[in-house]
Amino acid sequence: MILGIESTAHTFGIGIVNNGKILVNLREMYTTEKGGIIPIDAAKHHVEVADDVFDRALEEARISCDEIKAIAFSSAPGLAPCLIKGMEFAKKKAFDLNVPLIPVNHCVAHLEIGRITGAKDPVLLYASGANTQIIAYSGGKYRVFGETLDIGVGNFIDNFARYLGLGFPGGPKVQELAKKGKYIELPYKLKGMDVAFSGILTKLKQMKESGKYPVEDLAFSLQETVFAMLVEAAERALAHTGKKELLLGGGVACNSRLQEMCKIMCKERGCKFFVPERSLLTDNAAMIAFQGELQIDDAVPQERFNEIDIHPRQRTDEVEIKYR
Ligand code: ATP
Ligand code: FE2
Repeated sequence: MILGIESTAHTFGIGIVNNGKILVNLREMYTTEKGGIIPIDAAKHHVEVADDVFDRALEEARISCDEIKAIAFSSAPGLAPCLIKGMEFAKKKAFDLNVPLIPVNHCVAHLEIGRITGAKDPVLLYASGANTQIIAYSGGKYRVFGETLDIGVGNFIDNFARYLGLGFPGGPKVQELAKKGKYIELPYKLKGMDVAFSGILTKLKQMKESGKYPVEDLAFSLQETVFAMLVEAAERALAHTGKKELLLGGGVACNSRLQEMCKIMCKERGCKFFVPERSLLTDNAAMIAFQGELQIDDAVPQERFNEIDIHPRQRTDEVEIKYR
């Protein structure tokens, strides 16, 4: 059994996986009343909840400590203070349990957890708050075929929702508003397989200011436009790589309209479409444990723990993949 620890951003989680089967997937989220995430505060939150989440995870999985054979943790990418606290906790627990550590890349874990849904070699559309990337395995590495050139799609939606006074997280609120809206043309920002959102955000705010457009129409058009960009970018990646599977990841992938558009595109291309359940889409530790199992050969023994470090800006294609 592998125990996984997630702490890259607002979520602290503990997951336990046994031979690809998830036994438990617990999380505690740091939230703010208003404004964005304050990294130091999020890190403090993680330290406060860590021991309790850990104990509860073992309890719920009905296993004892000595059944854990290794601990995997997200070492990259993410907010440095959060990553550091996660690593410190992982090292401490690994010493306590006398097991090795497996540092894992969070983005790769989002992709690999798709195996649980049956995806074998997918193109991943990873659409979360901070990240928007199109990733696939090619030539011994996970490569980023396309990505946002400015902000992540979730942060973009949250920013506009906050501007409308809808609160955080904005995604579900915008989705609800969009149900009653109709289409207005917005800028469409897709270059190759890259996307950009800040220009659209400015435009949306100007349209709102003008008082000429109902917010429902703005919400509807926002979704139609930016999801079309993401789906088209993903389709280009499918065409470019010749792969036959599309997998969704990240919190924005919870959006039913985005899922629907992906489904239609895949059907038209003769591709399979996979979307994990919500608890595996957003940041979670089960995917870290799952990734740890794949990378069991990379496990680092205690004598070499001082060589293990965090990599807040590690790129997906810097990760060496030896297991496939
Ligand atoms: P990461 O570090 O992986 O980027 P994150 O915190 O930025 O993590 P997630 O936790 O994966 O992102 O997802 C949070 C985002 O998902 C928020 O921006 C939120 O608005 C968005 N979201 C959640 N539900 C929906 C939905 N139904 N439609 C659109 N966006 C959604
Ligand atoms: Fe994530």
